[in-house]
Amino acid sequence: MLILETPRMVLRPLREQDAEAFSAYRSDPLVAHYQGWDAPYTLAQARAFIAEMSTIQPGVAGKWFQFALERKAVGGIIGDCAFIRLADDPQQAEIAFTLARTWQHQGYANEAVGRLLEYLFTSLNLHRVTARCDDENYPSVNVLERLGLRREGHQIENAWFKGSWGSEYQYAMLEREWWARQKGIQNG
Ligand SMILES: CC(C)(COP(=O)(O)OP(=O)(O)OC[C@H]1O[C@@H](n2cnc3c(N)ncnc32)[C@H](O)[C@@H]1OP(=O)(O)O)[C@@H](O)C(=O)NCCC(=O)NCCS
Repeated sequence: MLILETPRMVLRPLREQDAEAFSAYRSDPLVAHYQGWDAPYTLAQARAFIAEMSTIQPGVAGKWFQFALERKAVGGIIGDCAFIRLADDPQQAEIAFTLARTWQHQGYANEAVGRLLEYLFTSLNLHRVTARCDDENYPSVNVLERLGLRREGHQIENAWFKGSWGSEYQYAMLEREWWARQKGIQNG
């Protein structure tokens, strides 16, 4: 089983027991606002999602793999992060992430997504990692930019989303950019 550690969390596959917490934070309209699901997100939907995830191995091209974010000290999940290797080029992946509202603004997303990038670049040796976010999703923009992803695109009204046209930023990081950044961090 794939488990990644950070100072405050373990990133691990979702389990059946996570369904209630998963359904609760996905049902928060603020959390769902820029995401592909609608609130409320029922317990049955959560159970079905987790059951489907349990059949997927991490790193299979064309399939999202979701990590639950569990705080080490107390257990219970506070959010998730995910990646998908592109079906037509498995040297590239896209990432996504979500935190329950209670656990936002404490650096957990930064910590989890930073660890996910490390896994993708050092364990899977990927060439390039990308992310998309709505151009009004400032917390997501902050997470991506704080971790050093480059904004390389801005599509205007490219997505019909929850009843209106949304505009998205595209972000990316190359493996060599990730390594250069690690050297920079080590050298202070
Ligand atoms: C996107 C999302 C995960 C960002 O969450 P977040 O809590 O803002 O991000 P972090 O956990 O990294 O916390 C960073 C904030 O905590 C602050 N912070 C407090 N304590 C901290 C600590 N110990 N370490 C680091 N940052 C800390 C930072 O200053 C930062 O605030 P700022 O962005 O105002 O500068 C969250 O808003 C979310 O789940 N949104 C709904 C789902 C979604 O839209 N996902 C993205 C789709 S692309």
